[in-house]
Amino acid sequence: MPFAERLLRALNDGALCLMVSIGHRTALFDTMSRLAPATSDEIAAEAGLQPRYVREWLGAMVTGRVVEYDPETGRYRLPAEHAASLTRAAAADNMAVFAQYIGELGRVEGDIVECFRKGGGVPYEKFTRFHEVMAEDSGQSVLSCLESHILPLVPGLTERLEQGIRVLDLGCGRGRILQRLAVSYPNSRFVGMDLSEEATAYARTQAVGLGNIEYVARDLSDFDRTAEPDAFDLVTTFDAIHDQAKPLNVLKGIRRTLRPDGVYLMQDISGSSHVHKDVEHPLGTLLYTVSCMHCMTVSLAQGGEGLGAMWGEEKTQEYLRRAGFRSINVNRLAHDVQNNWYVVRR
Ligand SMILES: C[S@@+](CC[C@H](N)C(=O)[O-])C[C@H]1O[C@@H](n2cnc3c(N)ncnc32)[C@H](O)[C@@H]1O
Repeated sequence: MPFAERLLRALNDGALCLMVSIGHRTALFDTMSRLAPATSDEIAAEAGLQPRYVREWLGAMVTGRVVEYDPETGRYRLPAEHAASLTRAAAADNMAVFAQYIGELGRVEGDIVECFRKGGGVPYEKFTRFHEVMAEDSGQSVLSCLESHILPLVPGLTERLEQGIRVLDLGCGRGRILQRLAVSYPNSRFVGMDLSEEATAYARTQAVGLGNIEYVARDLSDFDRTAEPDAFDLVTTFDAIHDQAKPLNVLKGIRRTLRPDGVYLMQDISGSSHVHKDVEHPLGTLLYTVSCMHCMTVSLAQGGEGLGAMWGEEKTQEYLRRAGFRSINVNRLAHDVQNNWYVVRR
């Protein structure tokens, strides 16, 4: 495809992502998947939305080949095979969730441009929906395969969780993963830590009635010195090391707080530390963009290292070794092009 044509397509597809995000947030895809072919006004009425906006949104959906339109009847239809990638009923396959990142990044474009000129970073407070979208993201991408694919990466782990162990999740955000574990394994005790007061406060509201879980708001930058020694049997980080201000300190703290036979399970972005090896990465451009406009900048805003999401497997292994870890196994899940799963022991 000629380059100019490719850019033209990129313009259309970038715009389409914003409209897909709106379709998700307004539940228009969910509404349409329940309806027989319907007029714009009928869809708006069913969704409880303003007809003029819905009609314009449908224009983008039709020209974007997401929704079909019959000019004879004036009716719109969301094909079932498209609904399978766009609705809440699609659960883990709902790609509309990820389209929300485009708008969330667009929110800070002006601040990022300033950083290009002056340095520094854009703080979490500027990303007003970040924790909400992130919880939806990991709720799909991690929770959907927690028991089937992720826990089995550590042989014997589910048995130990059933018997009762101490578990720590760092950079836990809104804490959904930990909460699921706390419900499934009542004999174990769980602690989630995150910089965000807002995210940990939200996590607490979701865990009411659970006696085996605690969420702590704290900066982990000094975790190498402050982590409780030999305290936890399992430490987890889900997509949370590269955003840290001081990732190496966090990794050193994890080693310090693990019991001698403990395990550290780390999810982080797959990819290489060398950009030329990422050219064929199916999500390369998206991940570098999310990195530049979120992961790297929130770390820099804390006066941090700004590792970025695309720090890559080579550098991840190097950091784990520098933190003192000796046993590092890297796993990939067949259905997951975005992540590496590191099983790490002292
Ligand atoms: C990409 S999010 C992942 C959240 C969660 N693990 C999930 O998968 O939904 C990274 C998390 O790291 C946290 N974080 C960033 N810098 C931190 C710091 N200095 N101390 C503690 N947590 C930090 C952020 O608040 C954010 O919740």
